[in-house]
Amino acid sequence: MRITVTVDGVAYSDEVEPRTLLVHHLRERLGKTGTVVGCDTGNCGACTVHLDGRSVKSCAVLAVQADGREVTTVEGLAREGRPHPVQQAFHDNHALQCGFCTPGMIMQAVDLLAEDPDPDEDAVRHGLEGNLCRCTGYQNIVSAVRDAASRMNTARTDAGGGA
Ligand code: FES
Ligand code: FES
Repeated sequence: MRITVTVDGVAYSDEVEPRTLLVHHLRERLGKTGTVVGCDTGNCGACTVHLDGRSVKSCAVLAVQADGREVTTVEGLAREGRPHPVQQAFHDNHALQCGFCTPGMIMQAVDLLAEDPDPDEDAVRHGLEGNLCRCTGYQNIVSAVRDAASRMNTARTDAGGGA
Protein backbone atom coordinates (compact mmCIF):
# COMPACT_ATOMS: atom_id res chain seq x y z
CA MET A 1 0.00 0.00 0.00
CA ARG A 2 1.06 3.59 -0.46
CA ILE A 3 2.04 5.54 2.61
CA THR A 4 3.25 9.08 3.13
CA VAL A 5 5.48 9.68 6.11
CA THR A 6 7.28 12.86 7.02
CA VAL A 7 10.78 11.94 8.14
CA ASP A 8 13.14 14.57 9.53
CA GLY A 9 10.98 17.26 7.98
CA VAL A 10 10.67 15.78 4.49
CA ALA A 11 7.53 14.01 3.21
CA TYR A 12 8.15 10.65 1.51
CA SER A 13 5.48 8.75 -0.38
CA ASP A 14 6.22 5.08 -1.07
CA GLU A 15 4.67 1.71 -1.75
CA VAL A 16 5.31 -0.66 1.16
CA GLU A 17 4.38 -4.20 2.08
CA PRO A 18 1.88 -4.33 4.95
CA ARG A 19 4.43 -6.33 6.97
CA THR A 20 7.36 -3.92 6.49
CA LEU A 21 8.73 -2.66 9.78
CA LEU A 22 9.23 1.06 10.18
CA VAL A 23 12.93 0.57 10.92
CA HIS A 24 13.42 -1.29 7.66
CA HIS A 25 11.47 1.34 5.76
CA LEU A 26 13.63 4.08 7.25
CA ARG A 27 16.91 2.34 6.57
CA GLU A 28 16.35 0.47 3.33
CA ARG A 29 13.90 2.70 1.46
CA LEU A 30 14.71 6.12 2.81
CA GLY A 31 18.42 5.65 3.52
CA LYS A 32 18.10 6.75 7.13
CA THR A 33 20.85 4.45 8.31
CA GLY A 34 21.52 6.49 11.42
CA THR A 35 18.72 4.43 12.94
CA VAL A 36 20.10 0.97 13.59
CA VAL A 37 18.81 -2.53 14.25
CA GLY A 38 20.22 -4.22 17.31
CA CYS A 39 17.80 -7.04 17.90
CA ASP A 40 14.61 -6.76 15.80
CA THR A 41 12.63 -8.00 18.79
CA GLY A 42 11.89 -4.84 20.73
CA ASN A 43 14.53 -5.44 23.41
CA CYS A 44 17.55 -3.23 22.77
CA GLY A 45 16.18 0.21 21.89
CA ALA A 46 18.84 0.87 19.24
CA CYS A 47 16.10 1.56 16.69
CA THR A 48 14.36 4.25 18.76
CA VAL A 49 12.89 7.17 16.80
CA HIS A 50 10.17 9.69 17.55
CA LEU A 51 6.74 9.15 16.09
CA ASP A 52 4.68 12.33 16.39
CA GLY A 53 7.15 13.51 19.00
CA ARG A 54 7.21 10.45 21.27
CA SER A 55 9.84 7.77 21.31
CA VAL A 56 9.01 4.38 19.84
CA LYS A 57 11.06 1.34 18.97
CA SER A 58 10.83 1.41 15.21
CA CYS A 59 11.26 -2.37 14.97
CA ALA A 60 8.00 -2.66 16.88
CA VAL A 61 6.02 -0.40 14.53
CA LEU A 62 4.84 -1.23 11.03
CA ALA A 63 5.63 1.28 8.33
CA VAL A 64 1.93 1.49 7.52
CA GLN A 65 1.27 2.63 11.09
CA ALA A 66 3.37 5.70 10.37
CA ASP A 67 1.21 6.72 7.41
CA GLY A 68 0.29 10.40 7.66
CA ARG A 69 2.51 10.86 10.68
CA GLU A 70 5.81 12.49 11.51
CA VAL A 71 9.00 10.61 12.29
CA THR A 72 12.18 12.13 13.65
CA THR A 73 15.40 10.14 13.57
CA VAL A 74 18.75 10.94 15.10
CA GLU A 75 19.64 12.43 11.71
CA GLY A 76 16.97 15.08 12.14
CA LEU A 77 17.93 16.43 15.56
CA ALA A 78 20.58 18.96 14.56
CA ARG A 79 19.49 22.55 14.00
CA GLU A 80 21.26 25.03 11.74
CA GLY A 81 24.27 22.74 11.51
CA ARG A 82 24.62 22.45 15.28
CA PRO A 83 24.14 19.20 17.16
CA HIS A 84 21.22 18.87 19.52
CA PRO A 85 22.31 19.53 23.15
CA VAL A 86 21.86 15.84 23.93
CA GLN A 87 24.12 14.91 21.02
CA GLN A 88 26.71 17.44 22.18
CA ALA A 89 26.53 16.20 25.77
CA PHE A 90 27.04 12.58 24.66
CA HIS A 91 30.14 13.73 22.81
CA ASP A 92 31.48 15.86 25.64
CA ASN A 93 30.84 13.23 28.35
CA HIS A 94 32.34 10.34 26.36
CA ALA A 95 28.99 8.59 26.59
CA LEU A 96 29.71 6.07 23.86
CA GLN A 97 32.26 3.50 22.90
CA CYS A 98 31.21 1.44 19.89
CA GLY A 99 28.31 3.85 19.34
CA PHE A 100 25.81 1.23 18.28
CA CYS A 101 23.30 2.03 21.01
CA THR A 102 23.87 5.77 20.72
CA PRO A 103 21.19 6.81 18.19
CA GLY A 104 18.50 5.09 20.22
CA MET A 105 19.89 6.35 23.51
CA ILE A 106 19.88 9.91 22.24
CA MET A 107 16.34 9.71 20.88
CA GLN A 108 15.10 8.20 24.14
CA ALA A 109 16.96 10.83 26.15
CA VAL A 110 15.43 13.67 24.13
CA ASP A 111 11.97 12.27 24.81
CA LEU A 112 12.80 11.79 28.49
CA LEU A 113 13.93 15.42 28.83
CA ALA A 114 10.79 16.65 27.11
CA GLU A 115 8.79 14.91 29.82
CA ASP A 116 11.12 15.67 32.73
CA PRO A 117 13.46 18.61 32.11
CA ASP A 118 15.51 18.00 35.27
CA PRO A 119 15.68 14.27 35.97
CA ASP A 120 17.79 12.94 38.83
CA GLU A 121 20.06 9.96 38.27
CA ASP A 122 17.37 7.43 39.13
CA ALA A 123 14.93 9.06 36.73
CA VAL A 124 17.49 8.97 33.92
CA ARG A 125 18.25 5.31 34.55
CA HIS A 126 14.55 4.52 34.67
CA GLY A 127 13.88 6.53 31.50
CA LEU A 128 16.60 4.70 29.60
CA GLU A 129 15.91 1.22 30.92
CA GLY A 130 14.54 0.10 27.55
CA ASN A 131 17.83 0.96 25.85
CA LEU A 132 20.71 -1.46 26.23
CA CYS A 133 24.40 -0.62 26.03
CA ARG A 134 27.00 -3.34 26.01
CA CYS A 135 30.04 -1.09 26.30
CA THR A 136 29.86 1.86 28.62
CA GLY A 137 28.46 0.69 31.94
CA TYR A 138 25.89 3.50 31.55
CA GLN A 139 27.54 5.96 33.96
CA ASN A 140 28.72 8.36 31.28
CA ILE A 141 25.38 8.08 29.50
CA VAL A 142 23.58 9.12 32.67
CA SER A 143 26.05 11.96 33.15
CA ALA A 144 25.49 13.08 29.56
CA VAL A 145 21.73 13.19 29.92
CA ARG A 146 21.95 15.19 33.14
CA ASP A 147 24.49 17.51 31.53
CA ALA A 148 22.18 18.00 28.56
CA ALA A 149 19.30 18.78 30.92
CA SER A 150 21.39 21.40 32.62
CA ARG A 151 22.44 22.98 29.31
CA MET A 152 18.88 23.02 28.00
CA ASN A 153 17.55 24.54 31.21
CA THR A 154 20.23 27.23 31.12
CA ALA A 155 19.36 27.99 27.50
CA ARG A 156 15.67 28.25 28.39
CA THR A 157 16.45 30.57 31.30
CA ASP A 158 18.66 32.74 29.10
CA ALA A 159 15.97 32.88 26.42
CA GLY A 160 13.34 33.77 29.00
CA GLY A 161 15.57 36.43 30.57
CA GLY A 162 16.10 38.04 27.20
CA ALA A 163 12.37 38.20 26.44
S1 FES B 1 16.22 -3.21 17.07
FE1 FES B 1 14.42 -2.42 17.88
S2 FES B 1 14.51 -2.77 20.00
FE2 FES B 1 16.32 -3.73 19.19
S1 FES C 1 28.41 2.24 23.15
FE1 FES C 1 28.53 0.20 22.41
S2 FES C 1 26.53 -0.59 22.80
FE2 FES C 1 26.54 1.33 23.78
